[in-house]
Amino acid sequence: MAPLNLWLRFETKEFEHRSCLTPTTAKKLLDTGRFTITVERDPQRIFDDAEFEKVGCKLVEHNSWPSAPLTSPIVGLKELPPNDESPLPHTHIMFAHCYKQQGGWIDVISRWEAGQPTGMLYDLEFLQEENGRRVAAFGYHAGFAGAAVGTLALAKQVGSEGEKARLGEIKPYANEGALIADVRAQLADVEAKLGRKPRALVIGALGRCGRGAVDFFKEAGFEDANIAKWDMAETSKGGPFQEILDADVFVNCIYLTSKIPSFISPESIAAAGDKRNLRVVVDVSCDTTNPNNPIPIYSVNTTFDKPTVDVDGLTAGPPMTVVSIDHLPTLLPREASEAFSTDLLPSLLTLPEAVAERSPRQGKPIEAQDVTKGPERVWKEAEALFWNKLADAQQEKSKQA
Ligand SMILES: NC(=O)c1ccc[n+]([C@@H]2O[C@H](COP(=O)([O-])OP(=O)(O)OC[C@H]3O[C@@H](n4cnc5c(N)ncnc54)[C@H](O)[C@@H]3O)[C@@H](O)[C@H]2O)c1
Repeated sequence: MAPLNLWLRFETKEFEHRSCLTPTTAKKLLDTGRFTITVERDPQRIFDDAEFEKVGCKLVEHNSWPSAPLTSPIVGLKELPPNDESPLPHTHIMFAHCYKQQGGWIDVISRWEAGQPTGMLYDLEFLQEENGRRVAAFGYHAGFAGAAVGTLALAKQVGSEGEKARLGEIKPYANEGALIADVRAQLADVEAKLGRKPRALVIGALGRCGRGAVDFFKEAGFEDANIAKWDMAETSKGGPFQEILDADVFVNCIYLTSKIPSFISPESIAAAGDKRNLRVVVDVSCDTTNPNNPIPIYSVNTTFDKPTVDVDGLTAGPPMTVVSIDHLPTLLPREASEAFSTDLLPSLLTLPEAVAERSPRQGKPIEAQDVTKGPERVWKEAEALFWNKLADAQQEKSKQA
């Protein structure tokens, strides 16, 4: 089998420094002799272009993937460049954010429909081990970073500049130690201002993001007794929850699969009046445009240059802000990329088989009985999911027509 050429594209999103492949994992792929790797130059990426070149990758121009050979899977992380509705005839490995009916999902997936018979989306969010566990996820570092940004926002809002002060632009940290040191330096002031130790509540605490958030609070110096760790058992009684309003920072880390009662709501916030402690909500789950978002108190995603958005309509209690950044792990881009790419590596090693196996049936859905066969199973399942989601989109389009 001729080596498979992987094409690492640049990331469009401002402040996105992470990378799906790292020089370490690229070298491991190249060492097998079964891959060649093309890397688009990207000044924003945490890894220098030269680091990739040094391990044997070929460097090409920024944003040149649209003219890559159709046989080269395009590897990336987040959204493709905006304001482009052109067909996508390549295989893309990325987080496309269009399988959970997010805003604009039909337009996104329709680009691959228009790219048939060769187009394919292997969505990174849905690559699964045989036991249903996700192959690779940024969750741990998302929760860790989210809790950090929430604590920094709290420190700003209770700090010496007064309660109108808001956390300004945040920048990626060189490493985890630097981030912890920065937050620790501000916690003593928070405690002095509140007149007590700060309290955090994490929902989804048993998941990847939740574990990261809890670990961050511990490492930053929150007392264990002041970190409420909730998961399914605690929310099964249904919301909204007074306990959330009693915490200073609330970090939501659940994996939302269906409509559930809201965790907090404009009504529950109003009812708490000036008895509310809650000043910062970090919605790591970021189901901002999902109609079932259990935190219906904000409607936009925030960004690294403006990390918080105020909750409108408060009539009592301190100001309250929401952090809804959907690429939190980029606060620690090097560690987060290395962890993600290392987890993805075993699956990438089976990609040449998947691509060769799919070749004869391009443009046609995979038969159900073939999905679970072979070492490349993970990609076949992703392929089957693509066809299912495309059928959903087609159905929705015909309903709307
Ligand atoms: N903002 C970001 O930068 C970012 C980055 C990575 C992941 N995410 C998102 O974070 C979310 C969580 O990802 P994960 O990898 O940690 O998922 P996970 O499956 O590892 O963990 C989710 C946890 O939530 C719990 N949970 C689900 N529903 C709940 C409920 N109703 N009440 C209480 N607990 C509940 C589950 O039991 C589980 O422990 C996903 O939506 C993911 O897309 C966001």
